[in-house]
Formats: sequence, structure tokens, C-alpha cells
Amino acid sequence: MMLLRLDRSMSSVTIPPPACMLRPLEVPLRYLFGPGPSNVPPRILAAGSRPIIGHLHPEMYEIMNDIKKGIQYAFQTENNMTIAMSGSGHAAMECAVFNTVEPGESVLIAINGIWGERVAEIAERMGANVHRMVKTPGRYFTNTEIEQAIKKHKPVLLFLAHGESSAGLCHPVDGIGDICRKHDCLFLVDTVASLGAAPIFMDKQNIDILYSGSQKALNAPPGTAPISFNDRACHKMFNRKTKPVSYLFDMTHLSNYWGCDGKPARVYHHTGPVSGFFALRESLAILAERGLEESWEKHKEVAAYLYRGLEDLGLKLFDLRLPSVTTIAIPEGYDWREMLTYIMKHHCIEMTGGLGPSIGMVMRIGLMGYNCEKTNADMALHALADALKNCKKSKA
Ligand SMILES: Cc1ncc(COP(=O)(O)O)c(C=O)c1O
Repeated sequence: MMLLRLDRSMSSVTIPPPACMLRPLEVPLRYLFGPGPSNVPPRILAAGSRPIIGHLHPEMYEIMNDIKKGIQYAFQTENNMTIAMSGSGHAAMECAVFNTVEPGESVLIAINGIWGERVAEIAERMGANVHRMVKTPGRYFTNTEIEQAIKKHKPVLLFLAHGESSAGLCHPVDGIGDICRKHDCLFLVDTVASLGAAPIFMDKQNIDILYSGSQKALNAPPGTAPISFNDRACHKMFNRKTKPVSYLFDMTHLSNYWGCDGKPARVYHHTGPVSGFFALRESLAILAERGLEESWEKHKEVAAYLYRGLEDLGLKLFDLRLPSVTTIAIPEGYDWREMLTYIMKHHCIEMTGGLGPSIGMVMRIGLMGYNCEKTNADMALHALADALKNCKKSKA
């Protein structure tokens, strides 16, 4: 009888298998010269394709411990509370805010591109009292301006993007951590687009919470995000009156999952992205083998080469440039969408337009990590020159 019921339910499928699912997966080859993701080198792809093991197996804990060490090196920190999020850069943004801020507390967000806007929205959604300091994309905040705003709003947290990828700006960080300490405020910094490309020293620069992403200069696939909290941040987040709004991003659980809480056993919280962690480990290993200084130097050198080539094409660049993502002002008389479509169609190269407040202002070229080579800069310049020749609009 039971078998009959099962048979009947099996024959009752009314929605046929979709035709697309009966075709093989097709993925084109692209040069990813936009603000991310960037191309993943074969060694990292191979690491990600290793056989899966259980996420709570001792061998996996070893790999997670290696990742923690790799992040500590990349961030230049000795913080024990250093992990990788199971999620993209946004997961790290939410984890940082959700754990260190409680509803009703005041936060101060420096906005000079989209990333400050995003963090402001994240903080607002969890009920924080958000204060915005706003500049046009590409402009930076002086330490005096920051201190004045901190005195006025008395925030528990200040957010700043080190690598503002929507504006192509590398923001100075020196001295801001000291100001935050003086006023009992945590300093949260985003290095999703700058880690491995521009110097950052979490401990020396008194950064309390630092996060990044896997898919930019680290060249791992998207989907994991390094994050680290120092003792000041841990003190705040583990002495809360309320629980963080997210279960998945609750650092009480994540710190146990990553073996950072000193407890003898790690218990199940969620199933981590095992393949993503293999790939992240390999990307951090490549950075460690190469060395941070060499990686920073290479990004600086290739970026300078690209700037010269762009200026030779008559294109206008922004100041305080991020060596990983270069923003150029949209050349007069051109439609940026048309140029980018042309470049993709004729050169298989991804470059992008602006994002958030920089939409319609800039086009962006990213040469990060594995992609950071003068030969790739030449390809990007050649494609742009071709687009300038063939996409010119007839408008005055
Ligand atoms: C500076 C910066 N912060 C945060 C993010 C968000 O990262 P994700 O897209 O991995 O969530 C990005 C992504 O481009 C970024 O460039």
C-alpha cells in the first residue's frame, strides 16, 4: 500500500525538467579587469576542486587554522579573533556592525562612495542611530573633520573604506585609530578592494575591526571574507545587553566554529563553504610566499604604468588613487555603457562603470593580484583606445 502511494506520487510530476538544465554548463573565458571578481589562477582553482571533507573534520580545522594565520599576516595583526566569513564582503560588513553595535547606539559613517552608504543602511536596518559624513566620490576626510564629527555624535563605531572601489580612492588611515581610542569609539575599516594591493597595518594603525573579501587582489572565488576583531572590539561585542540580530553572523558562535573562543570543542553552527575555504587558503598561501611588500610594490608599479597609458589616451584620472582599481572620468562626448559593451564584445574584457554615487561619473579598471601585470594593462589600454576610436558619439 505504502509502495503504491509512493509510485503514484512519483508519477504525478507535472512540471517537466527545464530544457536549460539538460544542456551542459557554458562559461565563457573573460578577462576580468573590472573592480572584481578578478581572474582566479589555476593553482587556486585546483585547490577549490579538491575532494570535499566534512566541515567539522580535524583536517578541516587545520585548514581553518592556516586560513586564520594567513589572514593575520595579510592584515598584519596578532588578533586571536580572526576568521573568514561564509559569505561575500557584505557578510563581513554585516558581521562587523551586527556584533559591535546595539540598537539605539550612535555610529558614524564616512561616505565618499557606495561602501559608506551600504554600511549606513546595514546599521540603520539593525536600529542604530546613524550619522553620515558625506563627501563627493573620490574626496577624502581629514583627521580633524573626523575628530570633530566624533566629538559631536559620540559614536560607538566609526566606519571608513580604505579602498573605496566605487571612487577608486585609497583613503589615508594613519592617526584615525588613535582619535577613535581617545573618544572610546571602535574603528571599522573596509579593505575588500585594497587588501594585498595597498599597505594596511591593522595593529600598528589601531584598527579595531578590519574586513576584506576573497575575490579581488587575493584572487580566490567570491564567497568568503576575512575579518578580524581586536580586544577592544571583542570586549564590546561580548559584553552586549542584546543578542546580535543575525544568528548566522553571531560572533559568539563563529568564534567557537573557528576555534577562537578557547573552548575545547568546536560545535556545529552552520556548514562552512569547504571548497571556498580550500581556495581561500591557497590564495593566502600565494600572498605569504610572495610577501606583502612585493605585492604592494607590484600593484603600485603596474598602476603607475596604467596611469601613464591612460593619460596618453587623454583620459582624466582621480587623485589619491587606489592601486587596485583605477577610476577614469568618462571622456566627454562618449556614452560609457556603449564603450564598455564595445570592449566586452570586441576584446572579451570586463571593465565597469561607476557604482552608487559614482554612476555616470567614472569608468573603472581593476588589475588585481594575478591580473596585475603590465601586459594586462596594455590589453586594457588597447581596448580603451579602440573604443575611443569606434564609439565616439556625434554629440557636440
Ligand atoms: C570596497 C568594497 N567593500 C565591500 C564590497 C562588497 O563585497 P561583496 O561584493 O563581496 O559582498 C566590495 C565589492 O565590490 C568593495 O569593493
